[in-house]
Amino acid sequence: MNLVIKNAKIASESGVFAGDIGIRDGKIAAISQFGTLKGEEEIDASGLIAMPGVIDAHTHFELPIMDSCTADDFESGSKACCAGGVTTFIDFVTQTKGHSLFDDLTERMAMAENKVYVDYSLHMGITDFNQESFQAIPEIVKIGIPSFKIFMAYSKEGWMASEGDLVEVMEIVRDNGGVMGVHAENQSIIDKHTYDLISQGKTSYKYHPKSRPHYSEIEALRRILYLAELTRSPLHIFHLTTGEGARLVSEARGKGIQVTAETCPHYLVLDESVYSSEKGYLYVCCPPIRFRSDSEVIWRGLEIGSVQSIATDHCSFSVAQKKEFCDDFTQIPRGLPGCETLLSTIYTRGVKKGRISLERMVSVLSANPARIFGLYPNKGSLNIGADADIAIFDPNEEFIMSPEVTHMKAGYTPFDGKRTFGSVKYTISRGEVIYDNGVFTKEPGRGKFIQRFRNPEFF
Ligand code: URP
Ligand code: ZN
Ligand code: ZN
Repeated sequence: MNLVIKNAKIASESGVFAGDIGIRDGKIAAISQFGTLKGEEEIDASGLIAMPGVIDAHTHFELPIMDSCTADDFESGSKACCAGGVTTFIDFVTQTKGHSLFDDLTERMAMAENKVYVDYSLHMGITDFNQESFQAIPEIVKIGIPSFKIFMAYSKEGWMASEGDLVEVMEIVRDNGGVMGVHAENQSIIDKHTYDLISQGKTSYKYHPKSRPHYSEIEALRRILYLAELTRSPLHIFHLTTGEGARLVSEARGKGIQVTAETCPHYLVLDESVYSSEKGYLYVCCPPIRFRSDSEVIWRGLEIGSVQSIATDHCSFSVAQKKEFCDDFTQIPRGLPGCETLLSTIYTRGVKKGRISLERMVSVLSANPARIFGLYPNKGSLNIGADADIAIFDPNEEFIMSPEVTHMKAGYTPFDGKRTFGSVKYTISRGEVIYDNGVFTKEPGRGKFIQRFRNPEFF
């Protein structure tokens, strides 16, 4: 073996056991009892947990916004992934109106080139709903991008799809082996509340959640689930925030609708009281953070399988970028940092608190995102022959979350000050140790663009 991880607590979807993992030529070559494998290189993982590398299927690195950009580019973002046990991330192409999907894809791939530390892919965000875009979809799926993001809101940005556009894309992805993902919020409900708040002079960041109430998500979800039922098209819900939404997804799956849902750590760990705090502007994201009762229902959904995945929606803006517009909630750049804190936060708040098992954590952070987006079983599993993408963490090492202990560039994390467990000790990507106890051992540019092909049988 080239590399053997010795005496780890090996966590998979189907169980947890102590043993060794053998890696040859970048692939998982053997899993066996402790002491049975020999390697040219060896890692002593006593006391540590080894699991399939985390797949963060929702990041926005180097996202241009007005005259500026997100705090993390592909290099710092993927470096943070590396330190957080994330071995694959999926970012987005957001089509510029008037551009072809192919041109925007090429441009986005050029932005990532030579910068990334871990493997990555891109979802295709369609914003220009015309024949040229529709005709490009089958070709985009064929080149290994089977997932699309369509916005049911964001009319001001010019991204919003009509119901007719939604149906058109759903039918095309259904017929070509793809999946349509949605940002599910009802724009006209948001417009009404935004107008009312502004008319009353309520423009501070504190009013951001009031402008996008829970029922704007629930209404949009009901509508899109109905369209998924009619078209029999696979559907993925990005960044689910409401307990009622989780219930609707579960009910739809019960009816045979092919729908999967993702939630994010901030919707699980935080609640709307963050917006009453002095630094509440730092938490402005879309959809907003909801109520404790919502997160409890979503945690339950993760444990029983009615919510399938967790991703971060990493979209990091610096404290200064956020603060500049704190008196105008409509202008605050929206999004939170998170790719590096994903594993430790979910381990601490999910597994350690007894809300989900370690096996379920492997499902929702690794195996399920790989299945939903066409990476499984080569990624998201420790199956023999899979890419040796592995996160190894110390479940007992405790630290206080802060920007000082992370590499993300926003200058804050949404979980600052929180007691956290599950410090990542090693990250292994295609058999290479890329992060070793705080040291980045490989250069940026080694991460590969991964073509993805969905297997409809997985979901
Ligand atoms: O506030 C957020 N989530 N910003 C990123 C864009 C999106 O809708 O995912
Ligand atoms: Zn979104
Ligand atoms: Zn996003």
